[in-house]
Amino acid sequence: TTVEWEAESYDMGGHDTYMHKEIHEQVDAVDRVLRGRIDDRFATVRLGGLNLDAREARGVRRVKILGCGSAYHTGLIGAQLIEELARIPADAEPASEFRYRNPVVDPDTLYIAVSQSGETYDTLAAVQELKRKGARVLGVVNVVGSAIARETDGGVYVHAGPEVCVVSTKCFTNTAVAFALLALHLGRIRDLSVADGKRIIAGLRRLPEQIAEVLRGEEEIKRLAAEYANAKSMMFIGRVRGYPVAREASLKLKEVSYVHAEAYPASELKHGPLALIEPEVPTVAVLPDDDLLEKNRATLEEIKARSGRILAVAHQEQEKADHTIVVPRNEPELDPILMGVPLQLLAYHTALALGRDIDKPRNLAKSVTVE
Ligand code: AGP
Repeated sequence: TTVEWEAESYDMGGHDTYMHKEIHEQVDAVDRVLRGRIDDRFATVRLGGLNLDAREARGVRRVKILGCGSAYHTGLIGAQLIEELARIPADAEPASEFRYRNPVVDPDTLYIAVSQSGETYDTLAAVQELKRKGARVLGVVNVVGSAIARETDGGVYVHAGPEVCVVSTKCFTNTAVAFALLALHLGRIRDLSVADGKRIIAGLRRLPEQIAEVLRGEEEIKRLAAEYANAKSMMFIGRVRGYPVAREASLKLKEVSYVHAEAYPASELKHGPLALIEPEVPTVAVLPDDDLLEKNRATLEEIKARSGRILAVAHQEQEKADHTIVVPRNEPELDPILMGVPLQLLAYHTALALGRDIDKPRNLAKSVTVE
């Protein structure tokens, strides 16, 4: 499959940084990853390059997703989506760890390599190790014709367009959407109902406008970033769907602003990291409105009791939080996609407030093509 990229050239298009430009391009990018793929008649999606027929898809007993950095985080979201929509046990692991531990390669497992560039050496090496052991490996890749795209047996292109900033934003979001498409496809081959298929499709179609809505709140996020920019360290927490979002937001902040950040499952806080909480170490809490919201609110109380400041990302104002960024509601399964967007802006504006070199953070390269 090829895709038209001329709408998003390397031109800065009036933005001061590529990161800012790419955050704002997400409205169109998400529209593009969906385009031409939705099959309303069967409440599913068509993924031309997958190279996995329905019978083979039914034979998949496990899914293992491999990637590095942000790609690994989208893998965490993808694994949850595949478990939720297709009820296939799925997990994600950093490709760099996987390739060094002489992994057990199982013929009934579908392996998926995730990469923006398609050139990350650790991910490519994991793919080659898997192929050598006879596994079936798909790619979820942005750059068409890249090494990982070529070495995999098939896959889903992410169609985010060129991503220039070292820090991944639009590709992260589009990859998560690509996983939602894959999960929906696998789900509809198995037990996901027509009604649920339609519900997820309707949710996916609402995403571009909802991303635009989040981006319209940029001024407020900028103000919040200025307020939290002098933090000694930031704690990012979430439960289940919120956790990969917390991890990615913490990575984003570290990369671009050099503010130290930790990400933890909210439930793990009491097993140690609570000791770090003090007014100079604020917490960003990712709180989707799911059945874990009450549990999450109890965690906020624990943080408050230790004089911790809290910035919540939620679907409604959170009483226990000092500030809440309100994100529109979608289908619960798709919450991680939308909830990541305001936290990209938070990282961006924190970096801006601290005068960082946003498009070229120190010590980092866009793709790590060496060992
Ligand atoms: C993202 O902001 C990072 N710069 C980094 O973690 C990146 O996602 C990782 O190096 C993987 O790159 P890839 O997607 O091109 O394989």
